[in-house]
Amino acid sequence: MIYFNEEKRDIHIRTSNSSYIMRILEEGHVASLYFGEKLKNKSHFSSLYKRYEVARGVSYTWKSNYSMIGELYEFSYCDKGDYRESSIDLIYSDGSITCDFRYLSHRINDNNLVIVLRDPLTELIVKLHYTVDGEKIIRYTELENRGEEVYINHLVWATFDTSILPLRLNNVPLNQGIRIVDADEGLISLENDDLIYRFQSESEGDVTGKFEKSPLNLIRANFGEDCNFVLAEGALHSTGKVALSYVNKNRKTSISGKPSIEVLDDIFYLRTNRLSYCFDTRLNHLYFGDTADEKLDFSGKMKEFTTDRILQFEGIENLNFEYQNYKLSDVKEELKTLPSSHGSDQCLYLFFSDKTNHIDLVLTYGLFYESDCFTRSMKIINRTREERILTRALSFTVPFADTDFNMMSLDGDWISERHINKRKLSGGRTYIDSKKGSSSNSHNPFIALTKDDTTEFKGTGIGFSLIYSGNHIMEADVDSHLTVSGGINPHFFAYHIQDEFETPEAVFTYSSEGLNRMSQNFHCFVNNNIVPGQFREKERPVLINSWEATYFDFNERKLLNMASKAGKMGIELFVLDDGWFGKRDDDTSSLGDFSIYRKKLKHGLNGLCRKINKMGLDFGLWVEPEMISIDSRLYEEHPEYLLKHPQREMSFGRNQGILDFSNPEVVDYVYGELEKVFSSCNLKYVKWDMNRNFSDTYSGYLKDQRECTHKYMLGVYELFKRIMKRFPHILFEGCAAGGDRFDMGILCYFPQIWTSDCTDATERTYIQYGTSMVYPQSVICAQVSSDVNHQLLRQNPIESRFNVASFASLGFSLNLKDVSAFNMSIIRNQITFYKEHRKLLQFGKLTRMESPYDSNHYAMIVSNSDSSKNIYINFQELVKSSRSLEIFKLKGLNEKYDYTVETRQQIENVKVVGELLNHVLPFRIRQNGVIHNIISRFYKYKTECENIIASGAELNCFGFLPKHQFAGSDINENVRLTTDFSSRLYLINKV
Ligand code: DGJ
Repeated sequence: MIYFNEEKRDIHIRTSNSSYIMRILEEGHVASLYFGEKLKNKSHFSSLYKRYEVARGVSYTWKSNYSMIGELYEFSYCDKGDYRESSIDLIYSDGSITCDFRYLSHRINDNNLVIVLRDPLTELIVKLHYTVDGEKIIRYTELENRGEEVYINHLVWATFDTSILPLRLNNVPLNQGIRIVDADEGLISLENDDLIYRFQSESEGDVTGKFEKSPLNLIRANFGEDCNFVLAEGALHSTGKVALSYVNKNRKTSISGKPSIEVLDDIFYLRTNRLSYCFDTRLNHLYFGDTADEKLDFSGKMKEFTTDRILQFEGIENLNFEYQNYKLSDVKEELKTLPSSHGSDQCLYLFFSDKTNHIDLVLTYGLFYESDCFTRSMKIINRTREERILTRALSFTVPFADTDFNMMSLDGDWISERHINKRKLSGGRTYIDSKKGSSSNSHNPFIALTKDDTTEFKGTGIGFSLIYSGNHIMEADVDSHLTVSGGINPHFFAYHIQDEFETPEAVFTYSSEGLNRMSQNFHCFVNNNIVPGQFREKERPVLINSWEATYFDFNERKLLNMASKAGKMGIELFVLDDGWFGKRDDDTSSLGDFSIYRKKLKHGLNGLCRKINKMGLDFGLWVEPEMISIDSRLYEEHPEYLLKHPQREMSFGRNQGILDFSNPEVVDYVYGELEKVFSSCNLKYVKWDMNRNFSDTYSGYLKDQRECTHKYMLGVYELFKRIMKRFPHILFEGCAAGGDRFDMGILCYFPQIWTSDCTDATERTYIQYGTSMVYPQSVICAQVSSDVNHQLLRQNPIESRFNVASFASLGFSLNLKDVSAFNMSIIRNQITFYKEHRKLLQFGKLTRMESPYDSNHYAMIVSNSDSSKNIYINFQELVKSSRSLEIFKLKGLNEKYDYTVETRQQIENVKVVGELLNHVLPFRIRQNGVIHNIISRFYKYKTECENIIASGAELNCFGFLPKHQFAGSDINENVRLTTDFSSRLYLINKV
């Protein structure tokens, strides 16, 4: 049955067992609201409606309905600054990709429905046909081109005449964690751990015919290698290929000696402290793993270099690169156009040439001894005078003979960034990517291969990351063997090469000792070889940020008040966030303008800064230089600076547009403005924000729009470089609506990044645990915010807010005016503690002990170089009764040492025990009465303290038994008073 709800403009399709609901939105876009178990009547859906009626996200002006989170559209819809992958890909002759299908009409006829959509610019018509047949919904798509054909360069049908339903299964987007488990006889099953969705073709000619024999090949044949559609990207089974076996007869024994790069018999041996990576001149991979296990009688010589996997040029079919020679060097040259790692111990250049097409390749490998990391990038050199159009240029591929792996990635959304996601690899391609213009909070540019039995402490963990902040892809392709590859996302990518093109650097590392080791390798690499040298191991200041304290509503007096209080608490840096320029009272104006908003800051930035400096604090400032508001002086003068399709309506994300950084004039303009602002006062810190994704990917400056997102990144990097050169002493913090651009590319310029707009300590345990897979504490910024969290309204104890934030670069984001005297004194102690242990907390070796994803606890330990000093955090999400004996497990302690385990003294408000207080007081008080309130304001209950002495071996093997939690027991110094979301820090020091 199909019916239309006039009031809501919803279409309900009901089969005998399922319901599918779509909504025609006001602007004419069709969103998918629900697909799942049959809803018995309309009221069952009424609560779900709310989600679509109340926008999520905050404008912080409390006026506009603004959401950072997009809805589910089947056809790419450019709004909210979000990019949704469309089920129809259109590329116009200029390379632009924006299409905008809007509702025209619909027709319901018994069990048949047709929805007609039209792209207003091109007159393209899409007809979505749905038929209900028993349990099934049969769907196919019809496309009618009524406009001029010339506008369409390339048209790819998504899925065998039917289309993708834009579903999220258990909140997992379809291309994430979903396997296509069967593609036989026209039946396609999509499956993740919880659900199976089956799609079956009705007509013989369609799916049945196409998928019967060799689904993988057919999909490729039909849609091309680049096809990025969910079904085409799924893991379809393919068999029949056998790995070649390979024995290196020339080399019986392994070359011992110091780790380095060695070349013998045309084989390259790259060895770090613990890792070996060996391949030959034909890029056959011979070994990647522990140096101790290195054997080259390894069966399964894996060829990395199937050229079209990694490189493609428009109009060139016969690429054929032949090895020329190599060069070893102690110094790895910096990439010219992109950020790159520094301080490699050795470097290998391999030279290849395609003599027919006159294209050369230089592969660069960096070796990082201490961190056990390798880097790899590629330079493409055009030897002709003609332009070459590159359409695919990945940074690396690494083949493995073994295909039995899981793929881990860090996926998320606004305020829930970098959550850990694992799925089993099986036949076909599994990938994560970004098409949002930034490296994105959807999928961090990182994947790891793990085994079923890999844990934090044992088993294989092979990590791959990219030093790039734009659209990326990281994929694992399983056929007869496994190929992992990654780089710039080829989706709508092209680059016109005159002379050279550089790919981003990729970083990889290998651990046979579990995920902790993999992460420690990355941490060491990021701290030593990624963040700018002048900030290496430089302790980050404790800051206070004005955003959650005032949002846009501030003036000099309010700020000075905050700063004065902050100074007294021991805070070192005062950061003025959004709202100081143009006439910015909310998020609708002034981006692009850099004049001081005198109504708020009558003495300008310099006046404010000087007063703040006098209070003993450094001054820092927020900027969002990549954006433009329509309501701005800049837009009046230079509308051409905005990225926007000339004939289409502009799409807004947080009411703003993106500046065209592919245009050097824009880079110059922004540089000039920033230069003035940054030199106008004694600035020590800058928070560099970027609050929307690309959706109008169109630059008036470029001829081929497929160049837009990468050239944008090149422009942004150029600006970063110039700014860093001019202001090397300023500490920059990257930010993009929280953690929407958290990657090693940013970290090459900015030594720290705002991790997430979510400051809720409990949610942060998930975010920070995930983020720590790749990134060290020093680059992760965390802040203590107000009692009632502004994103989730959860109340975490003040001590937990600090404890969680202390395993990162610490800040505060709350209005100190509203903080009780009781909490102020707690905060003062916290800051003193943090400063005393800052080096260890920010730069200590991190070992994850318990994961919030798998348990009720979040536990980690940081250790100094010889593990004589350690701090351990244990955070408990919910209180549970009838617990068995708790053991806090530890690792990484030095077995030669004895240790004391001591709790950081925490303060608890007596109100936490409620009216139980009456059982210990000699007199009776009324709950929340005057006396209760007075006692709770002044009386500070000091929580229990451990004082354990134990050997390193004992702690490593067993851990320690903390004092038992309150469980209807007495309240005294031997009882650990715990509540939901409570936590402790333990200092574990050598005796
Ligand atoms: C988004 C950031 O993540 C926030 O911290 C804040 O700086 C706002 N932007 C300001 O507009």
